[in-house]
Order: sequence, then structure tokens, then C-alpha cells
Amino acid sequence: MSRVVLAAADEELILRVKQAADGDVQVLPPGRLPGDPARLFEQLLDGELPDVLLVGPLAPLQEVLTLTQRLDVQSPGISVVLLTEPAPDTWQAAMRAGVRDLLHPRSDVAEIRAAVDRAGTVAEGRRRVLRPVEETARYTGRVITIASPKGGVGKTTVSANLAIGLTAAAPQSTVLVDLDVQFGDVASALSMVPEYTLPDVVRGPASEDTMVLKTFLTQHPSGLYAVCGAESPAAGDTVRGEDVTRLLAMLAREFRYVVVDTAPGLSEQTLAALDRATDVIMLTSMDVPGVRGLRKELDVLRELCMIPAGRHVVMNFADPKGGLSVRDVETTIGAGVDVVLPRSSAVPGSTNQGVPLLESGSRRDPMVKELRRLVSRFSATPLIHQSRYRAKHRAAS
Ligand SMILES: Nc1ncnc2c1ncn2[C@@H]1O[C@H](COP(=O)(O)OP(=O)(O)OP(=O)(O)O)[C@@H](O)[C@H]1O
Ligand SMILES: [Mg+2]
Repeated sequence: MSRVVLAAADEELILRVKQAADGDVQVLPPGRLPGDPARLFEQLLDGELPDVLLVGPLAPLQEVLTLTQRLDVQSPGISVVLLTEPAPDTWQAAMRAGVRDLLHPRSDVAEIRAAVDRAGTVAEGRRRVLRPVEETARYTGRVITIASPKGGVGKTTVSANLAIGLTAAAPQSTVLVDLDVQFGDVASALSMVPEYTLPDVVRGPASEDTMVLKTFLTQHPSGLYAVCGAESPAAGDTVRGEDVTRLLAMLAREFRYVVVDTAPGLSEQTLAALDRATDVIMLTSMDVPGVRGLRKELDVLRELCMIPAGRHVVMNFADPKGGLSVRDVETTIGAGVDVVLPRSSAVPGSTNQGVPLLESGSRRDPMVKELRRLVSRFSATPLIHQSRYRAKHRAAS
């Protein structure tokens, strides 16, 4: 399903679009449509670019066309669909500006769904063609930190599966770092026997030279690289926040994705990883204590201005019998839920065998489907520039 952003729409149209896109829509607040795509991107809550930008009839045509023209050049991986009263002049101007599709403002759910699907397919195709250009450019990799207020909520499960999924999408692209410095179990989750562990890579020659650092990483048969956790809690405790900052910066120069598993709560090492992150996955179990804990953690991170541009809220252990709905959770935490992972009988077995579900599970398994959806949030979207987002949030807070 495509990621849809909707602008300039009234309540009634918002409802139809939400139905058409199965709820996966971010609605922009009413007001002027910015002419500059960067301004538009700043309004996106979780920092991810859409596949499809739907613009309703409340925006003046000229504003839409200016924005579309610039998007067509700067972000051709986004398709613009305009809902407007049909008029021959409009068709021509829209086509020249690069609008992908025009719909009547009263189009029904099925018509909107078909247009979103078409536009999403085009966006995906364009992105696939553009990706090689992106890859040859010098970039700093995406640092994705997985954090949670409480233990045992699935951080290591999600980290291992995300890292395996990103490696499958782009071979040799990903390194997984075990920052649960005392009781890290990434090595066990992936059946790896590391020669070197976290304390070895943040000290001595590996900490000074990226080429040496790469030889200290543990390799998984899938092509994934890993920095496994320390052998003992005491050894792990020697790793300081500044060691983490330097390690992640070095890895981000070498890898497209740096996935960071953490210990529960906000330790010195986790704060350093959050500070260096381009994305955070805030994970919690779908129960009252878990959700309350998440709200407190989000509040603290907001106060510290430590929520990176990409914020992804993930619920784990979702169970229809639990009595909590996604809406309840969203009301409590004051933020949208991005992915909901079901309680799954396949997960404990995969943990015990040390084979992540994305390697061994059936594609039809509901947990596998949701994990793949999580992976595609990173593999399918470019990164929004970090400093601009943080500056804006510091100013606002
Ligand atoms: N969706 C799920 N359904 C069923 N079991 C799950 C699910 N997610 C995780 N588990 C199981 O829950 C246990 C804890 O998961 P995991 O180790 O990933 O959590 P964690 O947050 O990393 O824990 P810690 O805070 O101790 O590091 C594991 O045995 C795992 O197999
Ligand atoms: Mg863990």
C-alpha cells in the first residue's frame, strides 16, 4: 500500500481518502500549500516522504501547480493527484506542471483507491530507476535506533528482523549494533559466534580506522554485518556514550543502514544512539503499562529534543483479546501508531533457533507481513535532512 499525504481537503473528503488508503494517510493541517517542497516535508510528522500527494479542492490551483512543478524536479519519486472541478484549462496546466492524475472532488472511495494505486505504482517505478543515482552519491547512512521504556517487548526481535530485511533489500548495506551493553543477545538471535564484541570495536585500532573496524565486525550468512554485545555485563559497562557516538558515525560512513538494538530505558549508551539517530523505532507492548511507559519516554525525549526526523511508533504483542485499540493507544501517547505487530506463536521458536522470522517464516504469516511493512518504511523512502528538522523542533520547544 502506498504512503499517502492529503492536503487541502474538507472533513468529508478526508474520510473518503482514509477509506481508500486503508487508513494509511497523513492529513496536513489546513492552510496555505507551501510552494517549496522542503517546507511541505517539514510538516510530515514522522519524516518520511509520501509515495502519493493528494491535493483536495481547497487549495488555489496556482499554489498546487507551483508545488507540483518543483516536486517534479526535486522529488520525482512522489506522484501528485489533484481533486478539482474538471475544466479544459485545468487539465492542460496540470499536465504541464506534472500532476499525475486528476479526479473529480466527489469521486467515490473506489475511484480514489484506483487513482492512489496507479500513482503509487508510478512513484515506486520512478524511485527504482532513481536509486542507483542515489547510491553512487556520497551519503551518510541511516542510523535506526530501536528503543523502549520496558524490557522484553521485542526490541531484539524487531532489530534482527529489520536488519535481515534491509540486507535482503540491499545486499551488504546493513550493520546491526548490539547496544544492550550488559545483556545483549543479538548474537543469539542470529546464531552468531563473534570473534570480537562491542568493547573491542570501540577501543584500540578498530576505533581509529574504518578499514580495521570492518574486519572486527561479525558476518552473518545473509550478508548482514554485526557488532555483537559484550561477553559480560562488566565488560559492557566500560563502553561510554562518546564511544557509541564515534562508532555509529564511523559505521554510518560505511553502511547505508545502521540498525541499533538497545537495552530498556534511557541509559547513557541509548541516549548517545538516539542523539546520533536519523530514525527511532519506539517500541512497546500493547498493554496499559507498556503504553503509559511509552508516553513518558516520548515526553522525555521531546523535552530533550531527541526525537529524530524519522519517528516510528511500533506496537508489539497486539492481541484482539487484550481490549486495547490502536485509537486508545494513539490518544494516550498523543502520536500516531505506525506499525502493529501481532502476538505470534512463530516468534518464540525463531528466537530459540536463532533464525529471524524474515528468513524462515511464511510470507503469508501476519507477523512476517507486518515486519516486511516495517522494513519497507526504510528501504522505500529517502531520508529527510536531519539538521533542519531538529533546528525547527528546538525552536518550537
Ligand atoms: N510478536 C511476538 N509474539 C510472540 N512472541 C514475541 C513477539 N515479539 C517478541 N516475542 C518474544 O518475546 C521475547 C522477548 O523478545 P525480545 O528479546 O526481542 O525483547 P527485548 O525487548 O529485546 O527484551 P530485552 O529488553 O530483555 O532486551 C522473546 O522470547 C521473543 O521470542
Ligand atoms: Mg533485547
